[in-house]
Amino acid sequence: MYKIFFKLVFSRTDPERAHHLAFRWIRLAARVPVLRTFVAAALAPRHKELRTEALGLRMHGPFGLAAGFDKNAVAIDGMAMLGFDHVEIGTVTGEPQPGNPGKRLFRLVGDRALINRMGFNNDGSLAVAARLASRTPAFRTVVGVNIGKTKVVPEEEAVDDYVKSAERLAPHADYLVVNVSSPNTPGLRNLQATEALRPLLSAVREAADRAVTARRVPLLVKIAPDLADEDVDAVADLAVELGLDGIIATNTTIAREELGLTSPPALVQETGGLSGAPLKARSLEVLRRLYARVGDRITLVGVGGVGSAEDAWQRILAGATLVQGYSAFIYEGPFYARGLHKGLAARLRQSPYATLADAVGADVRKTV
Ligand SMILES: Cc1cc2nc3c(=O)[nH]c(=O)nc-3n(C[C@H](O)[C@H](O)[C@H](O)COP(=O)(O)O)c2cc1C
Repeated sequence: MYKIFFKLVFSRTDPERAHHLAFRWIRLAARVPVLRTFVAAALAPRHKELRTEALGLRMHGPFGLAAGFDKNAVAIDGMAMLGFDHVEIGTVTGEPQPGNPGKRLFRLVGDRALINRMGFNNDGSLAVAARLASRTPAFRTVVGVNIGKTKVVPEEEAVDDYVKSAERLAPHADYLVVNVSSPNTPGLRNLQATEALRPLLSAVREAADRAVTARRVPLLVKIAPDLADEDVDAVADLAVELGLDGIIATNTTIAREELGLTSPPALVQETGGLSGAPLKARSLEVLRRLYARVGDRITLVGVGGVGSAEDAWQRILAGATLVQGYSAFIYEGPFYARGLHKGLAARLRQSPYATLADAVGADVRKTV
């Protein structure tokens, strides 16, 4: 039914407008207690065998909503209602900003992909922290907070901007993510170089510890699929050295030619980060490489082109304890998480592994 609706309505609507429209429905439904209970019963049935413990947190399952969909933390309950086991809000920047002007989100329907150059449009760390502080959750769900650099802040002052966000947001975060991998903020990805990343991650760790003393807020870094393999290794080694809790692999890609896209060239050439099905192979490759390097010492989160239960299962076997999705949700609609959970539970039952945790990295362990 969603597919017909997508074809008739959403595919004819400007992608960003369609996003706001869908978003409004989700938020509205989540505000009405009877409705949200009914929707959650239909779309978020629990599978005991998928219960997951990661980053010291208990979750209903391993599958979450990737950053960028709920940038301002306004629809956490709505997304939990749709079956996401964790919701990563953001990217939130130190200061509020409008993001890039003009059309900035494009659908490559034939490729099951998106290109976006949103540029971190968000309400800023102060407003989002206040919103999180005043939230009364309707569902028990894990909330990750993804932080990035305010565009007008020069690269030399990036650390202070991240620190500001970390201090304000860590008290409300189940986990914190340092995003250094969006292609839409000039210079941001330079922060992935270890010389820049080491002081940044150390400063954010200290800021989170200053802001929250009662518990240790898990800290993760999110990386780009466009890093050279040696740079992926370097980030992995740094993460171990700094005692980071996790790595999220991957963000969107600036690659085009090698992806074999079939959409019209003018669309393919739009500036921005590409996500969805064509990103799958490289995201999986980066994840495998990370797991081979860090094993179980660091929690890995697999994201990029996860469209089905089989994709999620492959991420788990490649080393992901948690899996996330965004683009496929646009194409699959409200049944996305439900189908994924059902298929994942079936795969686990048919596998030689007693628990999901046993399956994490099993494919990589076989080959090393
Ligand atoms: C429209 C859009 C906006 C995004 N915004 C962010 C963001 O603000 N921060 C971030 O870390 N990732 C952002 N992402 C990247 C996603 O979180 C995810 O890493 C990427 O899309 C790959 O997953 P997918 O193929 O399932 O979409 C965005 C993706 C899309 C499509």
